Order: sequence, then C-alpha cells, then structure tokens
Amino acid sequence: MKKRVLSGIRATGRLHLGNYLGAVKGMLELQKNPEYETFYMVADLHTLTTPYDKNTLSQSVRDVIIDYLAAGLDPKKSVLFVQSHVPEHLELAYLFSTVTTVAKMQHLPTFKEKVKQYPENVTMALLNYPVLMASDILIYKASLVPVGIDQEPHLEVTREIARRMNQEYGTDFPEPKRFATKGEYIPSLTGEGKMSKTVEGSYINLTDDLPIIKSKIAKIPTDAGKGSEIVGGVKTLMEFVELFEGLEEREGLERLYKTTGVRYSEIKEKLAGAIYRELEPIQKRRAELEKDPEYVDRVIREGAEKARKVAQETVAEVREKMGLR
Ligand code: TYM
Repeated sequence: MKKRVLSGIRATGRLHLGNYLGAVKGMLELQKNPEYETFYMVADLHTLTTPYDKNTLSQSVRDVIIDYLAAGLDPKKSVLFVQSHVPEHLELAYLFSTVTTVAKMQHLPTFKEKVKQYPENVTMALLNYPVLMASDILIYKASLVPVGIDQEPHLEVTREIARRMNQEYGTDFPEPKRFATKGEYIPSLTGEGKMSKTVEGSYINLTDDLPIIKSKIAKIPTDAGKGSEIVGGVKTLMEFVELFEGLEEREGLERLYKTTGVRYSEIKEKLAGAIYRELEPIQKRRAELEKDPEYVDRVIREGAEKARKVAQETVAEVREKMGLR
C-alpha cells in the first residue's frame, strides 16, 4: 500500500506567504512523489475554534480550495476536500478524546497562546483542537504531514494518541512525522515573531499585486545598512532574500553588510520583484478558476466522496476494536 500524506489549512482568510512556504510547497512536493497518496483539506471545523463570521465562512473555505488549485494542487493526483464534509473526523476525534488527558491539552504551548489571544473564547472546541487534528491525520493513517514548525506540538499529540490507541486497542496507526520545507518558519514583516494572519502588517497574501508587495517589503524595519551582527528586520529581509533569490544572494549581501554596507532600497525592490514573479502565475490561475465555479464545485464534491470512503473504513475498524458493536 502507498504511504499516505495529509495536511490542512484553516479558512481564516486569504493564504499568506507563511502558509504557502511552510505548508503548500511541501504539499506540492509530496503530490509529485508517486510513492505517496496525498489528502489535502480545508480545516473548516478548526476555523470554528476562534471567532469567525458565519456569513462568510463558506466563501472562505472555497477560497482555500481555489488557492490550492491555483498553487498547483491537482485533483487528479490529490484528494482535495473540506473537513466537515467528512463527519467521520468528528466521530474518531471523540473516540480519541477517551485516551487524551485534559492536563496534557491544557499545557500545550499552542493552546496557551490562543488563550492569551482570545481570553473570552476558551472553549471545549479549542481544548480539543489537537485531538481533532490527530483524527484528521490518523483517519487516513497518514505517516507524513507537510506543515510549518508551529504545528510540531500537535504532531506530538498525534503520535501519542496513535501509540495509546495501538497499545490499548490493537489498532495499526502510524506515528506521523512532519514534512519540513525550507520555509518552515516564515518571520513577520514587522521584524518580530512569525508571519500570521492575525497580526496586521506581518504578512503578504498570495493575492497581493506588485505595488502592494513593494509597499509591504518597504516597511520591513531596517538600519543604517552596515554592522557586525544581522538581527531583527534585517535578518527577516535576508531570510526572504534567501527564500526567493537563493542562498548565494543572501551570503553576498551579508558580506557587504559587514564590510562596505548595503542599500536597502535596491535590495527591497529586487526582492519584491522576485516574490511577485513566484506569485503571478498563481494569481493568473486563480482568475481562471474564479470563472469556472462548476469545476470548483465538482472538485469539492468528488474530494469528499473519495476521502469519506477511506475515513469510513478506519472508523468502522476503530469502533469494532473499541467494543462498539
Ligand atoms: P493554519 O491555518 O493555522 O496554518 C496553515 C499552515 O500554514 C503554516 N504556517 C506557517 N508556516 C511557516 N511560517 C509561518 N509564519 C506560518 N504560518 C502558518 C502552518 O504551520 C500550517 O501548516 N492546525 C493547522 C490546520 C490543520 C491541520 C490538520 C494541518 C487542521 N488539521 C491536520 C495538518 C494536518 C493550522 O494551524 O492551520
């Protein structure tokens, strides 16, 4: 049997460069590899764990599917689907919650971060976030998960649940590993922390045009252009140079920074162009896809059918092994 891959992105707004470089690029790489069967979803149920707008949710979900297609995910090679269209994920999550302690979930750094961010929204769904994510992955018995480094604590929980289930009930869940890309941690354009949809001014969207990219890159905080140590916004800038123009370019600029000095206006102009060159074909495909809603509907419908078949088998097996007959 082919090894399986699963990944997902929440429908919290347009995809940004962090999602693209940390997750989508890995998804694309694994889609190309014939050794793997790839399942990629929109995590709409996880979207409900933080404040959201019920009137725009379904459009946001669709937007992620369109972004997937525009970026090169291909329904002939990958199963593209919406998490809530496969309700078996919820059933398995409940069964998994019986082998997961509350204490463990409360101590996860990802949970604590969300509690700080949304103190009014500390719900059972938020506490249960990693258990549902374990279910998303293990329901397909996926062994590889292309996600950014911030998701590592959730993968650890997934491995723990797999072990517990295998020990207690004799299931054969794999212990999934993260598939890392070069962009596993994309810094914020503010020079502090990571690029994130919830931090204004921190991100570049996949749909941004060249003038917007230029103005966002121009805002990365820099210094006089010369020094002995590369930190803060300058480091962020150098990381983007490496990701979009290559390591050699970065090393060259860093050498200059430490000797004669650099001119940021030129570096930023060139970088913005390089980013746009990568995004332009994605934006063109997106415009085409928006003209063909029936095609997008079909992808979503057929994806759910394919995913459900696999998910139902796993749930039937787990129910049987847990004594639910
Ligand atoms: P979400 O929507 O928060 O993030 C989607 C993906 O983008 C990556 N990412 C980043 N990577 C690098 N640098 C950044 N600054 C950056 N910001 C975001 C995230 O690591 C993630 O890969 N819990 C998941 C959604 C999910 C899921 C799953 C993923 C639900 N079930 C099962 C994999 C498998 C999440 O946080 O999505």
